[in-house]
Amino acid sequence: MVASGALPYEFSVITGRPLPVGDYVVAPSADGRDVLGMVDRTEIRSIIMEKSTNSVGALAAGRLASANPRDKSYVSHVRVMGLLEELRSNRVMMPSLPPMPGSPVRRASESDLSAAFGGPGEEWVPVGALLRSPSVRVHVNLNRAAQRHLAILASTGAGKSNLLALIAKHVASMRGTMVIFDYHGEYLDLDLGGRGRAVRPRVNPRLLDPDELADLLEIREAADKQRHVLSEALERAKDSKDFWEGLRAGLRAIAEGDSREYREPARRVLDILASALRRLGPVLDPESPGPLKLIAEGYVNVVNLSDLSPRQADVVISQFMDEVLIDRKRSRAGQGGGGASPGPIVLALEEAHAFIPGGDGDWRTRDSAARIAREGRKFGVSLVIVSQRPQRLDQDVLSQVGSLAIGRLLNQRDRSFVQESSEFVTEEISDYLPDLNPGEMVLVGQWVKLPALVRVDRVPEKLSGRDVDFVREWRSRAGPSEDTDELIRRDRGPRSGGSVTLSRSVNLNSEGSPPPDPQ
Ligand SMILES: Nc1ncnc2c1ncn2[C@@H]1O[C@H](COP(=O)(O)OP(=O)(O)OP(=O)(O)O)[C@@H](O)[C@H]1O
Ligand SMILES: [Mg+2]
Repeated sequence: MVASGALPYEFSVITGRPLPVGDYVVAPSADGRDVLGMVDRTEIRSIIMEKSTNSVGALAAGRLASANPRDKSYVSHVRVMGLLEELRSNRVMMPSLPPMPGSPVRRASESDLSAAFGGPGEEWVPVGALLRSPSVRVHVNLNRAAQRHLAILASTGAGKSNLLALIAKHVASMRGTMVIFDYHGEYLDLDLGGRGRAVRPRVNPRLLDPDELADLLEIREAADKQRHVLSEALERAKDSKDFWEGLRAGLRAIAEGDSREYREPARRVLDILASALRRLGPVLDPESPGPLKLIAEGYVNVVNLSDLSPRQADVVISQFMDEVLIDRKRSRAGQGGGGASPGPIVLALEEAHAFIPGGDGDWRTRDSAARIAREGRKFGVSLVIVSQRPQRLDQDVLSQVGSLAIGRLLNQRDRSFVQESSEFVTEEISDYLPDLNPGEMVLVGQWVKLPALVRVDRVPEKLSGRDVDFVREWRSRAGPSEDTDELIRRDRGPRSGGSVTLSRSVNLNSEGSPPPDPQ
């Protein structure tokens, strides 16, 4: 029953057995309307043991206490989540009166919880089940998540990419448009029902400014002279029929020109260019029509960035983001050029802390993402940021995010940063985070009616990203097990000190030292 001292937004209950933290309960408010609440603390007290101050006394008191059924009291603290009737109609409203002390409390039924965590309407999609009541499915409002951007934050291995994969499947099933910037090549195997496309990133060097091209070629930031000669040569090459030949010709002219200061940097840039073109190959394509043409409307477009360095990926991602925002702005302003105007789009960025970091560093993606976080809502451009190091994220961008999924976060500074950056993350929610297991997440913000502690559905075919079972893999690869000493003895034969092959790839001589260099 409800204990004395109840308030409209929190109250305590006295029960006959302990209530697990995270359980949901229903109690009538003083005007008779049912209130849904969640247990956030449970205390068990023993009257007999209360006065024991030493171990001998506590031992005796403990024996007495366990024989006396009236000794224990169970008191739980309940945080009010809202009026049940309003939740059934998809609204969240707090009661204006607390429950009467002494009034009965019951555990919330499946139908109560389905009202709170389900969602009528096509914009609600299921993402998992309530952690404490696994028969209750939890739905999120995809519209609201997209309208106000989403962040998925958790330590490594806690299930971020699994949730993003699940969201991508929902987007694909609605024929929505999404771009996933996939830094680890993790999403290429995802079954998106024929609505997934692998996109090879391609950048047209003619459309780049000199610093962007220098970053893609991996010319050091401090190499001012190299950057200068590249800039000069790029200006002349932009309109050449053969872009690369034009660029090389420009660099050669500087290398052989009158200005001694720039001859050596120009030669160096020629070498850098040759090796970058060997490595980057088709990523730099002077005939590429620009990133917009690579994105298919109505598909989940997975841009594979796994071959690029962070600086190179930064140029590619920011180009995509900028072009998408400009395009959607134009189309909303009625300058779409007569074709079918592009629909809303979700841009999801893995490893977001690497590209949208806080601090002073010069990252193009941070500027592009900040623009989308601020303005994207009006133009149908939505951001999903995924990160295992939230404290390294840019706080301005994170604070613009309206919905969050937060999994296990062990680092205190990560938790505090998230709490400071988001109005939706309270201290109680933050306290849950270290104890979560992989796949368990707290969903907060505008995409849920109530904060929900959820076991996210597992995407079965998402194989990459799965933890490697080292022992099982080693065991399944091992050939017939042979005693190493016996092998050495057998192979050594009469030639003591000879080289012995233990496996196909590792050689040791009989003293156990490394093999001599080949040559
Ligand atoms: N909802 C879930 N239920 C069960 N297992 C899950 C769930 N989500 C993820 N896992 C498992 O946890 C492991 C890590 O998942 P995932 O790759 O999604 O984590 P991550 O947070 O993206 O990790 P990283 O930071 O390394 O990218 C995988 O083995 C995956 O199968
Ligand atoms: Mg991941």
